[in-house]
Formats: sequence, C-alpha cells, structure tokens
Amino acid sequence: MKNKQYITVFGATGKIGSELIQLLSQAEIPVIAVTRNKDKAVHLPFVEWMEADMNDRDSLNPTMVNCKGVFLISGASENMVQEQCNVIDVAAEEGVSHIVKVSSAMANSQSPLFIGKAHGQIEEYLVASGVTGTVLRPTGFMQNWLLGLASTVKSQRKIYEATGDGKRAYIDLRDIAESAFKILTEPDKHACHAYLLTGSEVVNYNQLAAMITEVIGEQVSYVPISAETAKEQLEQRGMPAWAIETFLSYAEDQRNHKAAHVSKDVPDILQKPARTVDAFIHEYAEKFK
Ligand SMILES: NC(=O)c1ccc[n+]([C@@H]2O[C@H](COP(=O)([O-])OP(=O)(O)OC[C@H]3O[C@@H](n4cnc5c(N)ncnc54)[C@H](OP(=O)(O)O)[C@@H]3O)[C@@H](O)[C@H]2O)c1
Repeated sequence: MKNKQYITVFGATGKIGSELIQLLSQAEIPVIAVTRNKDKAVHLPFVEWMEADMNDRDSLNPTMVNCKGVFLISGASENMVQEQCNVIDVAAEEGVSHIVKVSSAMANSQSPLFIGKAHGQIEEYLVASGVTGTVLRPTGFMQNWLLGLASTVKSQRKIYEATGDGKRAYIDLRDIAESAFKILTEPDKHACHAYLLTGSEVVNYNQLAAMITEVIGEQVSYVPISAETAKEQLEQRGMPAWAIETFLSYAEDQRNHKAAHVSKDVPDILQKPARTVDAFIHEYAEKFK
C-alpha cells in the first residue's frame, strides 16, 4: 500500500464532485481531480488536477497510479456504461482498493429505461471487477430545481411538472458528497454496500410551491401538466429521446405514488439528519425571487 495515498475524483468539476473535492481538501487528503478540460479547474489545497477522458482508456492510468480510492461519476450520456467500465478496468489494473460509484435509485440492469439500465450494468461490472465497491443510489436532486423550475417561478410564479400530487424524497446533493467523503475515508465500514440516498421527507409540488411562497413572500402555484406536454417541452429543449423516456417514467412513478420512499441511509452514514427542503429553499431563496 506504500505510495497509495491519493483519492481520485472523477467528475471533479460536476455538481457532486466539486463539493467532494472541497471536503477532501479541507481534511488535507491528497486528491487527483479529473476533468476533460483543465480550464475548469478550481484551485484548492491538496488537490492536483489531471486531464483525462473516460472514453480514452489510456488517458486514465496516470490518474490512478498512486491511488487508494476512486470516486466514480459521469454525466448521463449515451456512452456512460463504456466510460465508467473503462475507469473500473484501469482501477483494477492500477491496484486501487476501493471505488465509490454514484448510481441511481432506479438502477436495474433489466430496466427498459436507458439510465436505470446503464447504472445497473455498471454496478454489476463493478461487483465482477474484483475491486471493492460501494454504490450510492440517490433519488432526484433538490439542485435540479435551480434550473427550469426556478426560472418559471421567477418569471411567472408557477411550477409546471408532470408528477400530479405524487411525492418524492428529493435529496440535497451535498448529502451525497458528504456520504461519499465518509465512505472514501472509512472504506472498510462501507465495503460492498449499496445505499439508497434520499432526503428526510417526501414532498409534492403543491407543498414545494407553498414553501417557496412562504420564503419569497409572493404567491407561487403548481400547475400539473400532462406527460404529453412534458414530452413536448423536453423535446423543444433538445433532450435526447432516451433521456426523455427515463425522465417521463420517473414522473409517472411519482404521479402514481410509487416514489414516496424515505431511506435512513443518509442519517446512518452521516450520523445526522439529511438536509431538508425548507432549509434548501431558504438558502437558495434569491434564485426563486
Ligand atoms: N440529477 C439527478 O436528479 C440525479 C439523480 C440520481 C442520479 N443521478 C446521476 O448522477 C450522475 C451525475 O449527473 P449530473 O448531471 O449531476 O453530473 P454533472 O454535475 O454534470 O457532472 C458530470 C461530471 O462528469 C465528468 N465527465 C463526464 N463525461 C466525462 C468523460 N468522458 N471523461 C471524464 N469526465 C467526464 C464531467 O467533467 P468535465 O466536463 O470537467 O470533463 C463532470 O464533472 C449521473 O450518473 C446521473 O445519472 C442524477
């Protein structure tokens, strides 16, 4: 294990990865932060940036030479299975002892939906690789609200979603980053576990609208839309068909009250409650005004 001192963080410029490298830096743990474009690098103590592309297997070896643990994530792309399996292969070659993979609450290698199936296939590949793994399966991120939802709240004081009055336990992605930090720094406790990461409460969009109303002091309302309308909107935004299909299926599950599940895994890992929706809305109030 001599020289195996680094944690290699893939997706270090992404939403979860950028939070994780800050936690590792504060703990003075040496990090290799990976990006395809070093212009995006954020300078932090104990963090060394390297350029590599998960599609280019040979570019990956230098990122894991002195590495004991890997944080594995990439965006949802058509190539995600090959990309992440390349990282797992090279981690095995380089003698990495532990990989923490961000998956999805919908992971299932038999799923007819692209993203759930892809995550399920990568999880199975990790198990078969011989490298010890820990899998994080998060539900929907609260931070997704800062995109389209925040913009219609700002411009029209309306929320448009196809989830009816169905609820979900949305997670603040900083709880995912903190869980990954704990697991990467205490690998033996979490080896070979798969964790379902949710927020602490289930909410629907009527409740979210009421919370935002309270915080910004102006009436915000939820307008349920049909799956057909949601599909048209996503097509207009240029989302690929495989991603639209997955997104609409998540919404359908929620509409049919099949997504209202709270897991205890975040409080068990972090030894504190998951962040709440109310705290999130207060913290990001300016984005909704
Ligand atoms: N959004 C949700 O509600 C949700 C819920 C559950 C699960 N998830 C899962 O969470 C994961 C993260 O999704 P996200 O959209 O939030 O990610 P993101 O923040 O956009 O981050 C993606 C990161 O992956 C890196 N990356 C992508 N392709 C790469 C490649 N070929 N080589 C090297 N690095 C690459 C990017 O780095 P560079 O661009 O700097 O190279 C970037 O830092 C996905 O697997 C998704 O399925 C999301």
